[in-house]
Amino acid sequence: MRATGNRLTREQARELLARLDSTVAGLRGRASREAVVKFLNTMVPSYSWVGIYAVDGADLLLDAWSGPSATEHTRIPIGKGVCGFAAKAGKTEIVSDVSKDPRYLQCFLSTKSEIVVPITNQGAVVGEIDIDGDQLDAFSSLDREFLEAVARKASNAWA
Ligand code: SME
Repeated sequence: MRATGNRLTREQARELLARLDSTVAGLRGRASREAVVKFLNTMVPSYSWVGIYAVDGADLLLDAWSGPSATEHTRIPIGKGVCGFAAKAGKTEIVSDVSKDPRYLQCFLSTKSEIVVPITNQGAVVGEIDIDGDQLDAFSSLDREFLEAVARKASNAWA
């Protein structure tokens, strides 16, 4: 079941979470994160580029990604960019129009909106899911809910 249309529905989100469980079953660490980014990028058409960054000292280090091209932002200081902001705050950030957000670090010309969801372990941010959308306002509160559930699964398989 691949999600269709511009926005995720609640029904699709529920089915995707169940499908993700079987996709990552038995995987841990980086192998699990590789499977998660590929799954999200493949199954949800509005998720144009999907990456997982891991906290590495004072930086975020790109650990796994799936999308049409590589990003030059493979290391982002915590506090910089939308990614660094979300990591520092420990809270999900949704940017509906990246051209209007001064924090935004550009990776792809096609990106119009972005969501960043921290992955936490015992209250500490260990990484984050970063998704770029090629449409304005591609991410709703349902995407937030869905991706926060995905982040909890990623946290459980982190090490
Ligand atoms: N746009 C992000 C940088 C990472 S790329 O989107 C892959 C930011 O503003 O932090």
